[in-house]
Parts: sequence; C-alpha cells; structure tokens
Amino acid sequence: MKSDISHPGNFNNEDSNHTANPHIDQVLDARLSRRGLLRGAAGAAGAGVLGTTALSGCATSGASGTTGAALTSLGFKPVAKSLADKVVVPEGYSAQIIYALGDPLAAGVPAFKNDGSDTAFEQRAGDHHDGMEWFGLDASGKPSNSFNSRGILAVNHEATTDEKLSSFFIHTNGGASTLPRPASEVDKELAIHGLSFVEVQSSGKQWAYKTSSPFNRRVTTMTTAAIHGPARGSEHLVTKFSTDATQCRGTLNNCGTGKTPWGTFVSGEENWYGYFSRDAKDDDRRKKDKQVQALNRYGRKAGAASRHGWESAGPQDQYVRWNNGALAASAKDDYRNEMNTFGYVVEMDAYDTQAPMRKRTGLGRFAHESVAFAKPVAGQPVVAYMGDDARGEYIYKFVSDAKWDPKDAQPANRLAAGDKYLDKGTLFAARFKDNGSGEWLELSMNNPVIAGSSYFEFKSNADVAIFTRLAADAVGATKMDRPEWGGVNPKTGEVYITLTNNSNRTEANTDAVNPRMYTDMKGSKAQKGNVHGHIVRMADASPAGSAFKWDVYVFGAEADADKAAVNLSSLTDDNDMSAPDGLVFSPATGVCWIQTDDGAYTDKTNCMMLAAIPGKLGDGGARTVKHGDKSVTTYVGKTPTPTTLARFLVGPKGCEITGWCETPDGRAVFVNIQHPGEGTAMADVGNPAKYQSQWPANAGYGAGQRPRSATIVITKNDGGVIGS
Ligand code: FEO
Ligand code: CA
Ligand code: CA
Ligand code: CA
Repeated sequence: MKSDISHPGNFNNEDSNHTANPHIDQVLDARLSRRGLLRGAAGAAGAGVLGTTALSGCATSGASGTTGAALTSLGFKPVAKSLADKVVVPEGYSAQIIYALGDPLAAGVPAFKNDGSDTAFEQRAGDHHDGMEWFGLDASGKPSNSFNSRGILAVNHEATTDEKLSSFFIHTNGGASTLPRPASEVDKELAIHGLSFVEVQSSGKQWAYKTSSPFNRRVTTMTTAAIHGPARGSEHLVTKFSTDATQCRGTLNNCGTGKTPWGTFVSGEENWYGYFSRDAKDDDRRKKDKQVQALNRYGRKAGAASRHGWESAGPQDQYVRWNNGALAASAKDDYRNEMNTFGYVVEMDAYDTQAPMRKRTGLGRFAHESVAFAKPVAGQPVVAYMGDDARGEYIYKFVSDAKWDPKDAQPANRLAAGDKYLDKGTLFAARFKDNGSGEWLELSMNNPVIAGSSYFEFKSNADVAIFTRLAADAVGATKMDRPEWGGVNPKTGEVYITLTNNSNRTEANTDAVNPRMYTDMKGSKAQKGNVHGHIVRMADASPAGSAFKWDVYVFGAEADADKAAVNLSSLTDDNDMSAPDGLVFSPATGVCWIQTDDGAYTDKTNCMMLAAIPGKLGDGGARTVKHGDKSVTTYVGKTPTPTTLARFLVGPKGCEITGWCETPDGRAVFVNIQHPGEGTAMADVGNPAKYQSQWPANAGYGAGQRPRSATIVITKNDGGVIGS
C-alpha cells in the first residue's frame, strides 16, 4: 500500500505514538546524569572513529564476502521523471521481468491465468514483492559467494492490493467487500503473504527463475515459527496454538530485509497490527491488563476492524486467530496474545528448505523495516541498525553479547550462528541532540529508567522485547519522520536511514534532525508536514558504544521547491525525489541505491530508484530553516551532483520500487516493482481499460491484463557493473 502522506489513515502510515516524548531540544538533563549507568556510555564522543573499512564483504546486509569494482562516480545518463506505464532504465541498460505474483514454484502447478480464478498460492509467488536478498549457488548447487549466474532470491511478500477488505486482483469478480469474508477468498489471501525463496539462473544472455527447484520454498501466514530470544516462553506470547509460548504461526507484512554476517536471511515484520480485529468490549474484558496500554500503543484500540476480515471466515483456528480479543477464560484457550507473536525480525536459512523460521525477539517488536548489519569485527559484538516505520517512531540498534568470530562467516549450522549472535544482546533507541551528536539509550532491565518505569510495568527483558516501543518511550528516544530502511556505507561504516515523510511534523515539533515542515501542492491539493522525506546519516564512536554523531545526507524535494526551506540539498531534475524508503549499499561497487514509495510527487513522476555515491558525515554544513517565527538549525550533507546522485530507474504507474540485491560481481541487479496499478478501483476489476497499470503484461510478461508485482533484473548491455 502506498505510503501516501495524503492518506494518513492507511495501514502503512500508522500513528499511535501519542507520548509526550521530547524533541531533541527538550530532553531532560536528568537523563544525561545516568549515562554512566548505561553499558558502553564511556565510549569516546568523536565521530569518524570507524575509519575506512574494506569494501568487499560489507553491505547493508552484512558480510557476503564478495569482491568487485568500487565506483567513485556514476557513469550513466540520469533517467528523466516518467509517468509512463513501464520500467525506464538508462541508455545502455536493460531490464527483464523474471518473477511475478502467481508464478508457479513447483512442478504440476498450473500456469498463472491472472484472471482471478487461480488457486494454490502456497506454491506460487506471493504478492507485493518487497525486500530481497541474494544467496549464491555454484554450478553444483552448493552455496557460493563468487558464482555469478545462479542463486536463490529470498523475497518478502509484504501485502496485497486491496480495497474494502478484499485483495481484489486475485478474486474473479474482485471478491467480497463485506463481512463475513468467504473462506475460499481468505485462504488465498493467507497464502499470498509471507516470503518466497526462488532459484534463478542466467543462460549468459537471459535470466529466468526455475519453476521446480529444490530450493524453491514458500513461507506464509500459516508457517510454524520457533520463538527465540528473551521473549521465548513469555506469558504474553501464550496462545491456544502454543501454550508454552515457544512457537507461533506465520510471518506477516514483511517489508525490508537483511543478510547476516553468517549468511542467513532476515526479514522485518512491518504493519502486522492492521490484520487483527478487536471488538469494542475487549478493553473491559481485559480489565487492568497492562496489554491494553500496549495494544493502544501498537495501533489496535478496542473496536478496531481488521484490514481483510480474515477472522470472519469461519470458526476454524486459521481464521479466529486474527481476532485478538480475550474471549476465553485463559490465554491458553484463545488468541488474545496472537498479535504479540508478530512485529519481529524473522531469520531463515535460504539454503535449507527444512530449517524452521525463527522469530528473533531480541531485536525488538515494532514496525520493522530492514536490518542493516555493520561490518563485523573480530572480537567485537555484532551490531545491527533498524527503523520503526510509523509517524513519530524511533531508530534502534542491536548489539550482540557474543563477540564476532570470523569462522562464523562460513558456519556449519547457519541458524545456530543466528542463535549465538541474535538471541542474547541489548537493544538501544536513538536520541538525537540539536548539536549534531546523539546517544543510544539502553532498553533493558539494566537501565533503571526501564526497571523503575512508572509509565509501563517492565518485569523482564521479555517485556522489553515484546513492548519495545513503550521501552523507547520511557527512555526518551527521539520521534522521527517514519524511519524505513537502513544501510551501512562500506567505505565509512556510517549508517544511513531513510525517513520517508511525516504528515504529523508541525512547526511546533520540528527539530534539528527532523527540521522541515512545509506545504507542497499536488495539483490543487495542499500537502503538509515533511512531505518528501530525508535520509539521516549516523556515525557511531564505537560499534557497541552509546555516542554517535549525525547529519542529514540528503533532503527529498521537488527540483523547483524553495532552496531555503524545502530543497535544502539543491536537487535538480536529474535527482529530485520524494519519499525515500528502500536503501541498500552495493557490496560490489559501494553505490548506495535509494528507492521511493511515494504518493506526494506522483503527479509528476512514478516511483523511482536513484544511485548515489555519498561522501561522509560532516561534508556539508549547518543550515538554518525558518518556520514563521521559529528557526531550526540542522546539518546538511554536501550538495549532490549528477555524478554523485542520479535517477537510475522509474517504474510503471502506481508502483513502489523496493528490494535490491545483486550478483557478487555487481553486473546483475535485482529489483522489485511492488503493486503496479495500486490506484485501480475495485469496481473496475473486470475492465482492463480502466486499470491504472497493465504492467507487466504490457511488457510481454504472462497472461491476462491485471497488474502484478514482480522482480526485474537489470544488466548493462556492455556487461559492465551496474551504475558505471
Ligand atoms: Fe513497507 Fe515502511 O515500508
Ligand atoms: Ca508499498
Ligand atoms: Ca508538488
Ligand atoms: Ca518500506
């Protein structure tokens, strides 16, 4: 679903942080006085300590051990903004569609008819392709970090194009838009969410996915997962399905991804809360249960309707689990805690189709996007950065207890390595100060602000893992403009996090790191707040420490906007953008790829992907932005040029560009086109002439005319690395 700033009620733009948490100039000095209690708080305060690290083996997603040619400037001619219903790439490049919604993943599954009659989605590509990672294979099918023509794509299937409850493109006549939903429709919708693993290979000229590969696998809302980390066994995860709270079912609304330094796939569960219903009396039934406060904080007030009405399809367990009410005498007999089993990072081994999914609760529970691992250093903790995508939510960092052993880059048992590094560790939330520095605030019972909190009762680190947002509220983390993906720059070790937009940013609550609020016109419609988003850049003084410095790498803006108040990075027609969301640093080239999920600038251009060669923190300077009588001083990165930031791709109508991975040589890049034609009205499902988009059918891919989310692969016609 489009993260359209003009539709703040939609499920991708949640707004439940009504805490009075401070903006960065209001934080109480009292918090500083207890810094000495926090682990690592004695770290040096300077930035840039990380220094230069090797390019190879470090990306947004960790240590893939690849080698390639680092680019020092972009070599392609920037692509113009486009409203065409097609994928546009630079001159000299080609884009090929290889894997779309409904494509069969096993022998014997019928070809996708794309007319709403298809079934068996447990063995087909899911919907709304999102984050994606590459897991290489050699010619004999063994894991490889150097072979460039065969691999497994691990793909998130975030959501589905819906209106009035129904995922209308996968049902013949658009489906039922009233309750109760038919079980036959709900069964399909349960199966199009989750993950897929699909083998792809190149013939040398063309890429294709393999219909029947032993590596192909679907994970859906019904797949059993093992609960790992501090929340395993918690009373708040007890359900009728797992009365000892060690297991749960499904992964949901998977948005960003990551690749661990030990070679596994991780995926973030984002807007899961919207799939659950709670009836109006549920608060009364729960009496003084502290979860009432948590349910409100996580976007589910009593009386909330679910996005698809799955709970209405029948009395069977697979349907009633979506009713999050306390309906029975005990949590062991109902699904009052089912929502608490979502909102995590899940880890999977892409190479082992039998290995179970693990929910890594140590990384906290919120609207997860990607997981950006810092380059691991022998003898140091493993560090990962994460955003919580909702208006006014926080940026997080996880620091493992275990110290990195380089032998774990090729472990005998990948998920056991995941147990070692992700099940024990500490979560921190970021507080930004107005002088360009910042502090990571510890979220654990070691922090007396958490242990003694009067705001919410934390009894254990399990409670911190499950009610993470409340822990970050309690310590006074900084409310951000919707943190999305993060990536670690292999050249500098600095972390970049996209802040996609924020319709709730007002003049009164602008601060140094979220400094803009303004009005932008989309036709005759006035859009307010931080309409176009920005990308914050942070440098930790030491990987596990609490001190960091920050600036804003780039502000999204329309090229003709006021350079004093809006277009602070002086973007031009070659690189202006709105709503940065996906962000990945290429392991092969070091290029930073930025993808948009926009609804604000879509009167002038469809969503896009840009390539960037960013500098480093502090390469720009301080800027003062005026809002009426108020002035805010921020720190802006060096103004980009067309050889350091340029538009590389524009997608078809109604889509978001998301997901990025590459072959180890950097000569093939895979990207997802999510929800083309999302703006189609459900009433027009039988009328292709009225579809907002007919992609990818209009590019020659597959049957029917209904638009489909799909993976494309981009190559350079001369065989060069992508971005050169
Ligand atoms: Fe799924 Fe916040 O994007
Ligand atoms: Ca989307
Ligand atoms: Ca505009
Ligand atoms: Ca996203």
